[in-house]
Amino acid sequence: MAEQDPRHDLRARPGDNGEPWTTLPAWVYDHQELYELELEEIFYPGWHIVCHASEVPDAGSYMTFDLGIEHCLVIRDRDMELRAFHNVCRHRAHPLVSRREGKCRGRLTCPYHGWTYGLDGALRIVPADESFPDMDKAD
Ligand code: FES
Repeated sequence: MAEQDPRHDLRARPGDNGEPWTTLPAWVYDHQELYELELEEIFYPGWHIVCHASEVPDAGSYMTFDLGIEHCLVIRDRDMELRAFHNVCRHRAHPLVSRREGKCRGRLTCPYHGWTYGLDGALRIVPADESFPDMDKAD
């Protein structure tokens, strides 16, 4: 069977091939290229609801949200503002939190090597920071 071209097929309008559309063809449900196209064209450019604000009521309360290869973290900071970040450590890209929701005490510490971030996302602590003599944490 010939490989389906999802860009062509999905942009066709109902009736273009002379047959009425009644449902999506089965191949669209497990087609990797189509999945990646949907992420790039539909989901990544859009806004997404992670949670209701009441679900992160306290400073340090957080919720996570994964979409494709993106991993997000919404957290309430010390000023009770909601902030959103990639749920990825800047050191070696380990997830900062692994649970869907939780509450941390004033900071996020990466479980891999211990880099620690404030609730505002700023890098605060780098263990063995003498190993990074040129690093400016503010960067
Ligand atoms: S990956 Fe986070 S501290 Fe190394």
